[in-house]
Amino acid sequence: MAPALQQLFLFFLSGALLPHDAWSFSTGISSGRANPPAFSARSHGRAAMMMMAKEGDLVRVSLPKPLGIQLEEVVPGSPGVRVAGVVEGGTAKESGEIGADMILLEIGGKDVTSAMFDLVMDTLVAAPAGVPIDLVFRDPSAAAAAAAEAPEAPAPAVAMGVPCELTVGGVTLKAKTGDNLRKTLLAGKVEVYDMVGKMTNCNGGGQCGTCVVQVVEAEGWDPRSEWEAGKLKGRPESQRLSCQTVIQGDATIVTKPPKK
Ligand code: FES
Repeated sequence: MAPALQQLFLFFLSGALLPHDAWSFSTGISSGRANPPAFSARSHGRAAMMMMAKEGDLVRVSLPKPLGIQLEEVVPGSPGVRVAGVVEGGTAKESGEIGADMILLEIGGKDVTSAMFDLVMDTLVAAPAGVPIDLVFRDPSAAAAAAAEAPEAPAPAVAMGVPCELTVGGVTLKAKTGDNLRKTLLAGKVEVYDMVGKMTNCNGGGQCGTCVVQVVEAEGWDPRSEWEAGKLKGRPESQRLSCQTVIQGDATIVTKPPKK
């Protein structure tokens, strides 16, 4: 069995995850079948422990075990996990909010977008039973639907088409005022996205927040728009959604900047 799949079964079979005094389950393993486990609840009141909230493409849930979430690596061998599916009997299925392809961003307030699959699984298995676990997911389908509503990048306050230079990681890119920053960086083969962002970004729709860069030494550039500010809450003013930013002259760009 592949390591990732082994971990998946551990996730469902862990005693910590499924206390036998509260839940019964069957896995199909004794018959040699690799079916997803089926759970049946014998306890009551777990719905009272579940909380859900949506904010744009973010889905925040607080769910007790058993979660019943099948996870997989977004990109084999790289950090980041996403939902492969949810199974009957788990609180994720019961919540009605968790579905395939959603990216797991946080567990208990900790960012796991840079965590490898094994660490994510260990964290979930180690979480105590009977206590709701705070999870944050990004729903790519919600991002795509909302992208159509994102405002156009603001018109530049400078003359269009004036040659300028962007310094990115010690490399100088030729650019023009009025051009879109994200498109210019991608055209220059700059790694705008982290591994998860590569797979889940909204393609410049202003929704996902994965194209964030830091713009420094950028004299005369307009401040970020209200839309950007809303998407980048808690980040320094110099951080921008590159897809919503118009180049306005020479600048130094830092890709994948830390949040603080
Ligand atoms: S690519 Fe999604 S916000 Fe910029």
